[in-house]
Amino acid sequence: MPVIQQNVSLQSFNSLALPAEAEFFCTVRDRAELRAALQFAHSRQLVVTPIGGGSNIVLAANLSGLVVHMDLRGVSHRAVGRVIEVTFAAGENWHQQVQSCLEQGWYGMENLALIPGSMGAAPIQNIGAYGVELSDLFVSLNAIDKLSGEAVEFDRAACQFGYRDSVFKNAARDRYLIVDITLGLTTQPQINIQYPALQAAVNQHARSAAEIGPELVSAMVCQIRRQKLPDPELIPNAGSFFKNPLVTRAQTDALLRRYPQMPHYAQADGDSKIPAAWLIEQCGFKGTVRGAVGVHDRQALVLVNLGGGNGAELLELAAELCDAVKQRFAIELEIEPRVYGAD
Ligand code: EPU
Repeated sequence: MPVIQQNVSLQSFNSLALPAEAEFFCTVRDRAELRAALQFAHSRQLVVTPIGGGSNIVLAANLSGLVVHMDLRGVSHRAVGRVIEVTFAAGENWHQQVQSCLEQGWYGMENLALIPGSMGAAPIQNIGAYGVELSDLFVSLNAIDKLSGEAVEFDRAACQFGYRDSVFKNAARDRYLIVDITLGLTTQPQINIQYPALQAAVNQHARSAAEIGPELVSAMVCQIRRQKLPDPELIPNAGSFFKNPLVTRAQTDALLRRYPQMPHYAQADGDSKIPAAWLIEQCGFKGTVRGAVGVHDRQALVLVNLGGGNGAELLELAAELCDAVKQRFAIELEIEPRVYGAD
């Protein structure tokens, strides 16, 4: 049985370092502990909220019920034809596993280096960066149904992945606890440096084409991220605070007439993705400080806690940015991390 504590501060369990307490809290290290925690919650009719690395949540209030820190560990693998299927327990750290797989010669995760958070949380928002999304590598995951306690396997189709989206943010929201995920990696590197900034960094560093391998790609991704994104250990943040909005072709064309320099990325269906960072910067908010919270001065998409900020202040700033972007561009921004306690 895991140790269950009451009124536990979650400040060190969320990368925004927001102050909030869990009514009940426990850390689970394996499935047996998880089942015991679920039984405890069931017997007292407590809502169960899982927490992983805490890097994609906004705690805007105390959490009632049982917060379960998903710290299940372990990695296993098997060869399936030319693919190495690697299964990671939910509590393993994403970036450590990117590095460890790279050292083993298992490739595919290198563009996703340095993303904060745990393996179990990665599918929920379908983490993505520098031209690769988790869904590109995804094979399956195992989860526990919070209500029935039953084990359920989800393949890629069942996860309904989209841009920063999955079934776990929609129809299956709050229903499952992800206990492990399996990714398909390869021993033959497949370099993806289509993302312009990554291509430029790789070409600048490689003395010959032979040097362009997954190790260099991973190193360059880390370098770019360190230049732009604040380290949550130093400046608490939750990465991109908004999704990049999708805008129709007609609206994109109209905006381009007003703002010919507007960056835009055409999608297969004709819509365009507009960088939310650009929209926010155009509204003059890059580097804005409001009390103890602010907009990062090197990446306008990242909201930061400058020390002592709380969830309400952060959401107030987010609302101010949304209003300004809506007024000026008629585009609605959508908050990306999961917000708790603001409804
Ligand atoms: N830009 C600005 N001002 C800024 C920053 C960016 O105008 O302050 C413009 C520039 O035109 C730049 C463009 O926005 O070319 C794109 O910027 P960047 O390459 O930094 O990427 P992003 O669209 O802001 C997305 C992801 C990131 C991911 C990067 C790289 C979302 C919500 N965010 O950011 O993901 O690392 O691309 O692929 O899709 C995260 O989800 O937490 C995250 C960090």
